[in-house]
Amino acid sequence: MKDQIILGIETSCDETAASIVRNGREIVSNVVASQIESHKRFGGVVPEIASRHHVEQVTIVIEEALKQANMQPSDIDAVAVTEGPGLVGALLIGINAAKAFAFANGLPLVGVHHIAGHIYANQLVEPMQFPLLALVVSGGHTEIVLMRNHGSFELIGETRDDAAGEAYDKVARVLKLPYPGGPHIDRLAHEGGEALVFPRIWLEQDSYDFSFSGLKSSVINYMHNAEQRGEVVNPQAVAAGFQASVVEVLTGKTLRAAREFKVKHVIAAGGVSANKGLRKSLKDTFSKEGITFTVPPLFLCTDNAAMIAAAGSVMFEKGHKSSMSMNGKPGMPL
Ligand code: KG4
Ligand code: ZN
Repeated sequence: MKDQIILGIETSCDETAASIVRNGREIVSNVVASQIESHKRFGGVVPEIASRHHVEQVTIVIEEALKQANMQPSDIDAVAVTEGPGLVGALLIGINAAKAFAFANGLPLVGVHHIAGHIYANQLVEPMQFPLLALVVSGGHTEIVLMRNHGSFELIGETRDDAAGEAYDKVARVLKLPYPGGPHIDRLAHEGGEALVFPRIWLEQDSYDFSFSGLKSSVINYMHNAEQRGEVVNPQAVAAGFQASVVEVLTGKTLRAAREFKVKHVIAAGGVSANKGLRKSLKDTFSKEGITFTVPPLFLCTDNAAMIAAAGSVMFEKGHKSSMSMNGKPGMPL
């Protein structure tokens, strides 16, 4: 059978990315132009700056993805692009580049949900077994998603306030760590030493929803009180305590959902799934439980276009095609 070759494009936030994936599972090329350095001094992503960088980079990364794959546009079967959610100006640049490429080369266009992309990053590592439970933890999302089949997503629980990554970035900011703060807190939390105890927010007993704003406030209050008392704060103890609370709640709820829905496979996805503490906790928990657990390698946890091509591959296979009037959907539901 002929190979299926998908070009993926991702520009929903602060990475301009293009990738070529074969048969939905094999990365042929994967190019990511990160803008983190430009946003760092503002302590977060500035939408206008993000759009400007995407405009400058998008054609370059697409050409580079083709070059690294040693392919011509005629080798491509479909163009998959992030349709939403994300920053609308940023999304539109990827979408317009994808439309232009698809139109110029007579190719079908497939709009992909960014979170479906994060979930399908796992498919580049290990074939999915259903029913499957996905813990999606990124800068904008914290969700537990049940999949009974390819391309079917049931939202079981989600954050009621801050996303896990957002909480990481805000706590990092009060600790005066650079943006994005997640990796810095993770590193500090692993330095060893004491850990402060911060609350675990479980919400109602049967809920799979999350809340991280109370935890974030509790860390900020601790810092504020310590400052007023003239005490020296130990950032390592704060980071370790904060991370322990996040990891325990994320693991606990995912385990309860995995049992309730009798899933065969649990996966973690999104930028926060790069977290060493979370990866270890989930791995240990599900290995004891006898359930397959997978999480992508670090470079596929944060935003990239290989994951968009992998999700687009399944959608294309199922006959899904987007129209040339496709628009960016900042609040697109999964
Ligand atoms: O998925 P992603 O690259 O972009 C979004 O779609 O949001 O996720 C970015 C988030 C940031 O909040 C960043 O701080 C967090 O992922 N992150 C981490 C780690 N690496 C990235 N959080 C905790 N520990 C990490 N090692
Ligand atoms: Zn993302």
